[in-house]
Amino acid sequence: MNLQVKKFSADNEETGTLVVFATPGKKSVSVAGAEKEVSLLVSEAHTNEAFAAGVKEALFFRNSYVGGFKHLLVVGLGESKEITNETLRQAGAVVYGQLKAAKVKDSTVHVDSLVKYAKPATDGLQAFTEGLLLAEYNYDDFKAQKATSIGDITIGCGTAVTTVRGKSVVDVAVITAEGTNLTRSLGDAPGNKMTPTLLAKATMNAAKGTKLKITVLTKAQIQKEKMGGLLGVAQGSDEDPRFIMMEYKGAAASKKPLCLVGKGLTFDSGGISIKPGAGMHEMKYDMQGGASVIGAMIAIAKLKLKVNVIAFVPSSENMSGGSALKPGDVITSRAGKTVEVLNTDAEGRLILMDALSYASDKKPAAIIDLATLTGAMVVALGNSHTGIYGNDDKLIQKVEAAADRSGERVWHMPLVSDHHDDMKGTHADLSNLSSTRGAGSATAAAFLENFVGEGIPWVHCDIAGTGWNCGNRLNYCPAKGASGAMVRTLVEVAKKF
Ligand code: BES
Ligand code: ZN
Ligand code: ZN
Repeated sequence: MNLQVKKFSADNEETGTLVVFATPGKKSVSVAGAEKEVSLLVSEAHTNEAFAAGVKEALFFRNSYVGGFKHLLVVGLGESKEITNETLRQAGAVVYGQLKAAKVKDSTVHVDSLVKYAKPATDGLQAFTEGLLLAEYNYDDFKAQKATSIGDITIGCGTAVTTVRGKSVVDVAVITAEGTNLTRSLGDAPGNKMTPTLLAKATMNAAKGTKLKITVLTKAQIQKEKMGGLLGVAQGSDEDPRFIMMEYKGAAASKKPLCLVGKGLTFDSGGISIKPGAGMHEMKYDMQGGASVIGAMIAIAKLKLKVNVIAFVPSSENMSGGSALKPGDVITSRAGKTVEVLNTDAEGRLILMDALSYASDKKPAAIIDLATLTGAMVVALGNSHTGIYGNDDKLIQKVEAAADRSGERVWHMPLVSDHHDDMKGTHADLSNLSSTRGAGSATAAAFLENFVGEGIPWVHCDIAGTGWNCGNRLNYCPAKGASGAMVRTLVEVAKKF
């Protein structure tokens, strides 16, 4: 899709379809230059009960010739009092779907009717544009038949958002949506095309043209770092592990960085504690936490945010080769603590423990980690909320506020000393498996907390439920495929850090 931002004009336009927005009860839509024609059609549709302007409702008028446009698309936004930026993000996906189904090439979006109830108007336009671009995403790298898109879209600015403001808002939306779509494509790539080595290469490729400094530790360097967790998990696979680092300097060197850590497990078979066959293919998404961190870093760098951020993505496969970890094995973490591996399928925490200790050595202002860590998280919150755990109320509130702005849903979960008690080892300092049943995502979080440096504010986001297959809730996410969860929220955290 080609996006351009221009001042809206109803006449002398060459573009095919005019896209306007309506709310229930209002039978007129003020579109300067074409108000009467648009209102007549909308009013008639209302009278005939064909259209009530509810959320996600849409009506396409082919060959209706309003102003200089050939066709008209009217999209409902629902009750004005209930319109949020997320409503407009989802309206973006509705517009994309409608224009695609109508097979039209050029369209103009009427911004004044879009953002009439948005708070503020610029955020509404940003959300809408994100929705358009997120809905366009389609992973067809391995298909002969490539998907077609919807051609040129003109964002027609008016009084609510000036053309100059509109241009910068759309630029931000494009960078944010592209970061999210990059995250999705890294996740949707099959395990054989997205190994740790290939994930590191994809990260370097994506960072080209930005000021990001990318460093990738090879197996030998990971051995030097004594990352017993990352090495232990990787030892059952023929694929070598990688430790990917991305550094962005947008503020004074004296300013402590924000550290992001993401689980980059490119395929989780469970290892010797092997997973059941049904659905195992979905474990190619076990690097979604790492992918979200990578997508967010690319967006943060392209937005040139005034903040220092360093990202760490420990990456490996979890397989059951002859050298694989066995239940009962004891490994030594980079931080020195020993861990009894009672279940080789609880591997995410083992690769993250070394990344968290490495990140802590940077003396950051805060650490936020993202991981598809536990099946228990899916049971607790499904695909509607990302569960967040933390050791610092202020940072938790920052993440909650950022999610509020980005339109993503997070839920603060309890993490207390009981959860720590459950993770003590019998023959080592810690066990990777809880000694009690239940609260599996909280005990996993407790395990991770052991590796966060003293006094460092930390939030852990378990995206096991929200990382993929969210299309049933969010119309700008694929029904089957990576969602790009938390990329937008991480960008919002970085904006206000
Ligand atoms: N990658 C999985 C968690 C997961 C499961 C994510 C389902 C998304 C959907 C993780 O490595 C895992 O297998 N965790 C185990 C831990 C258990 C053995 C303590 C789990 O949740 O079953
Ligand atoms: Zn696992
Ligand atoms: Zn896993």
